[in-house]
Amino acid sequence: MDIFAFVLLSSSLLPLSFVLSDAADSISKSESLSEGITLVSKNESYALGFFRPGNSSNRYLGIWYNNIPVRTVVWVANRLNPINDSSGMLMVNSSGSLVLLSQNRTVAWSANSTKQARNPIVQLLDSGNLVLREENEENPENYLWQSFDYPSDTWLPGMKLGWDLRTGLERRLTSWKSPDDPSPGELSWGVVLHNYPEIFMNKGTEKFFRTGPWNGLSFSGLPVVKDNPVVTYNFVNNSDEVYFIYNLINNSVISRVLLNETSFLYERHIWVSEDKKWSLYLSVPNDKCEGYNLCGPYGNCIIGESPICQCVEGFKHKSTNTWNPDEWSKGCVRITQLSCEDKDKIGFVKFVGLKMPDTTYSWVNGSMNLNECRVKCLNNCSCTAYANSNIINGGSGCAMWFGDLIDIGQIAANGQDAYMQDVYIRMPASKQVDRKEEKDKQKMKVIVIVVVGIAVVFGVLLTTYRISKRTNFRERIENNVMIDQNIEGQSEDMEVPFFTLATIVIATNNFSSYDKLGEGGFGLVYKGTLIDGKEIAVKRLSQKSGQGLREFKNEVILIAKLQHRNLVRLLGYCIEGDEKMLIYEYMPNGSLDSFIFDQTKAKVLGWSMRFNIICGIARGLLYLHEDSRLRIIHRDLKASNILLDSKMNPKISDFGMARIFGGDQIEGNTNRVVGTYGYMAPEYAIDGLFSVKSDVFSFGILLLEIISGKKNRGSFHLDNTQNLVGHAWKLWKEGRPLELIDTFLKGSVMQSEILRCLHISFLCLQQHHNDRPNMSYVVMMLHSESSLPEPNELGFFVGKESTSSSNGQSSSTNEITVTMLEAR
Ligand SMILES: *[C@@H]1O[C@H](CO)[C@@H](O)[C@H](O)[C@H]1NC(C)=O
Ligand SMILES: *[C@@H]1O[C@H](CO)[C@@H](O)[C@H](O)[C@H]1NC(C)=O
Ligand SMILES: *[C@@H]1O[C@H](CO)[C@@H](O)[C@H](O)[C@H]1NC(C)=O
Ligand SMILES: *[C@@H]1O[C@H](CO)[C@@H](O)[C@H](O)[C@H]1NC(C)=O
Ligand SMILES: *[C@@H]1O[C@H](CO)[C@@H](O)[C@H](O)[C@H]1NC(C)=O
Ligand SMILES: *[C@@H]1O[C@H](CO)[C@@H](O)[C@H](O)[C@H]1NC(C)=O
Ligand SMILES: *[C@@H]1O[C@H](CO)[C@@H](O)[C@H](O)[C@H]1NC(C)=O
Ligand SMILES: *[C@@H]1O[C@H](CO)[C@@H](O)[C@H](O)[C@H]1NC(C)=O
Ligand SMILES: *[C@@H]1O[C@H](CO)[C@@H](O)[C@H](O)[C@H]1NC(C)=O
Ligand SMILES: *[C@@H]1O[C@H](CO)[C@@H](O)[C@H](O)[C@H]1NC(C)=O
Ligand SMILES: *[C@@H]1O[C@H](CO)[C@@H](O)[C@H](O)[C@H]1NC(C)=O
Repeated sequence: MDIFAFVLLSSSLLPLSFVLSDAADSISKSESLSEGITLVSKNESYALGFFRPGNSSNRYLGIWYNNIPVRTVVWVANRLNPINDSSGMLMVNSSGSLVLLSQNRTVAWSANSTKQARNPIVQLLDSGNLVLREENEENPENYLWQSFDYPSDTWLPGMKLGWDLRTGLERRLTSWKSPDDPSPGELSWGVVLHNYPEIFMNKGTEKFFRTGPWNGLSFSGLPVVKDNPVVTYNFVNNSDEVYFIYNLINNSVISRVLLNETSFLYERHIWVSEDKKWSLYLSVPNDKCEGYNLCGPYGNCIIGESPICQCVEGFKHKSTNTWNPDEWSKGCVRITQLSCEDKDKIGFVKFVGLKMPDTTYSWVNGSMNLNECRVKCLNNCSCTAYANSNIINGGSGCAMWFGDLIDIGQIAANGQDAYMQDVYIRMPASKQVDRKEEKDKQKMKVIVIVVVGIAVVFGVLLTTYRISKRTNFRERIENNVMIDQNIEGQSEDMEVPFFTLATIVIATNNFSSYDKLGEGGFGLVYKGTLIDGKEIAVKRLSQKSGQGLREFKNEVILIAKLQHRNLVRLLGYCIEGDEKMLIYEYMPNGSLDSFIFDQTKAKVLGWSMRFNIICGIARGLLYLHEDSRLRIIHRDLKASNILLDSKMNPKISDFGMARIFGGDQIEGNTNRVVGTYGYMAPEYAIDGLFSVKSDVFSFGILLLEIISGKKNRGSFHLDNTQNLVGHAWKLWKEGRPLELIDTFLKGSVMQSEILRCLHISFLCLQQHHNDRPNMSYVVMMLHSESSLPEPNELGFFVGKESTSSSNGQSSSTNEITVTMLEAR
């Protein structure tokens, strides 16, 4: 303080006080600041003093920019209590409180400090923050009081807007009443402490505008307030504080946010020194759609549409008078009612480019992933939507909404804005898919008619058809609304339809070899097209099953009840004479082996697609093992038994075959699957022992093949390098696991996920079946980031060299089998 001169105040009122004569940045006890004198921050960016706003003759204590020619007040102390003459005086009184006194020493304003200071000083900082602190205490955490905690209408860089949960302090902006009157006006702007916090702008008590929650990069309802050349925003949320803050990227820029009572806008202004004036950088709400909840529940406000209040896909206007703006707020209702109990009939539709709904009734968990989020939402009837709560790094966290979704709007028309969150809204599964697919089907039907007529002669046309089908798929993906992969394919229990042989003969052109799709362990598979254009796959079972018709039918009915989105759906069956056939849904993309082992097609399968396939297979297998009414051991899990639907979702095929062929036939089956030795667990291959853990082993092989793009040759040679498992294990132990990864995946950003999957595959491939995880553990490991156990010796080191002893099953094996196949 020695550089500043002090003048003894002659007034008899304050015999012991000093007044500052020159630009100091602080006052201490027994000093005071009165009209005509200002405190100036160290680098001279801000000044504190008395001012008169507009035409008013009232005096206020305030802070303004010191080095711009237009007086711009950013903070006011005595907003509610003006001083009407020049008697105002700011000082720290003898008990350490910061007070503003007027005539007769009446207190016009005082700082709300809870603690008393021993050696207090009041300092105006270079940030524009006026602080009361102990003279030798500079830690902001220990300030006794600061003006940043009591904002007026201006948000400055570095100023927190939000809550201190420890003290219950809320920092929110309130506009001035008018340019002449800084007392609080109608507009306010602050963080609302919903589970998923967001900023609300209120006009009086009425909600006026909402930013939408912070998604890690921006507010969904305010995509312009993302990081830009001027400022960076941050959202801080922990058990002590919840606040938003921004900072300037270039400190020589002068910028402020103002809540303007005249325009009713939140405005960011930037000082243009060349023009010596403030320039408006952005303002909200910008248009009608940004006003709060214009369109009511499930209304989708879209500028440029007529009326601008549209409905979210799957909903229709509640009122028929959509021309009448007064009716818009009634919103929209579901076209098809949801039935909550039946989870199979519920799905979620993904929406991109929407402003996140009002989070008043929301729930957030930052450590859940999207899939866990979906499950949690699906299991709670009042959950209407879910989303990743944070979009950084591909998305994380779970946000759920309850009750009607309001204040939605189409922000990014094409959904291309990288700052937008995707939201998944609950819908009736079948109806929603039907609606979307209706159009596709119309197009397809035309093609089908042509194809059915000519396909027999011109095989080329079928290829065309497949291509056109794929094009349809792409169109749908590019559409704004995308169907969540999870909602398809589950439908009500029904009698399994019976197909006559004649129907099948027509559909498959009398089992024309052209229509042959493949050859499985249990018979040939044909493609067929029913008269109505529906495509099917027909599995013509080899005639050796030797099972009675009745048992066969019973088995088929049981198997048909196994319904899961990662299982190929059985549509019906046919028994006539010696013929036994199973009719399945047709999978346009064929089987997984045709992709991963094909140099050209493998390129199509990036890691995220492969990971999706891995997770789907795991879920399908988990369902077979644990979740279905029957415990099914697949026993022939391999890449050629994984079929891919039009969206490349995996579906396990050939499950339940052991049942269909009858318990007695297990030995025979074992003979038949000799071709897939590469997938067999050692205890199965050698001793004929099988259990869910032998399926886990096959899953491990599959995982390895998907990651490496290489086929496991499947010979249990003592020379380990001859098979993939041995090779992989060797590289792993030598610390060179990256060499295993398919060349098409090299350089993937998801390397750690790839390595994790590799690790999981080794756990599945352990020699002792007791060591191998079960499928629910596998699914859990795939979806979490917890550390994984070290694998023990893998199962390719077989003690016995013989590979042909699988016929010799001991009776105990048969017992295990029978037990496993009992219906639960
Ligand atoms: C100041 O007063 C004049 C005349 O009374 C009026 O026209 C003007 O709008 C006022 N200015 C402000 C900022 O209120
Ligand atoms: C100024 O304010 C004081 C009290 O705040 C009041 O008593 C006085 O009448 C006012 N004077 C004028 C001229 O308004
Ligand atoms: C200092 O100001 C505070 C706040 O107005 C007041 O409560 C306290 O009594 C004052 N102390 C003295 C000595 O006037
Ligand atoms: C100041 O206080 C004295 C005595 O308390 C009173 O007589 C006088 O009217 C007051 N002045 C003002 C302007 O309020
Ligand atoms: C001062 O603090 C009290 C309680 O902590 C609070 O009720 C009051 O509103 C505060 N006053 C101001 C001006 O912030
Ligand atoms: C905010 O933090 C709390 C406590 O740490 C946590 O429970 C909550 O989920 C967080 N909210 C968001 C939106 O991240
Ligand atoms: C910061 O802004 C000033 C004034 O606009 C400009 O001259 C300077 O180049 C900027 N600095 C950077 C690092 O952008
Ligand atoms: C003053 O200091 C603040 C905070 O360090 C900085 O942002 C600002 O650019 C400085 N202003 C001047 C004029 O140096
Ligand atoms: C508030 O908005 C009005 C109307 O757009 C504008 O004239 C005025 O300058 C704004 N106020 C400030 C302090 O910028
Ligand atoms: C959030 O999710 C994680 C992971 O699912 C879970 O462990 C945790 O208990 C959850 N927290 C809350 C508050 O539900
Ligand atoms: C569904 O979520 C709501 C809101 O969090 C909660 O109150 C209710 O208990 C939940 N219901 C079930 C069945 O979990």
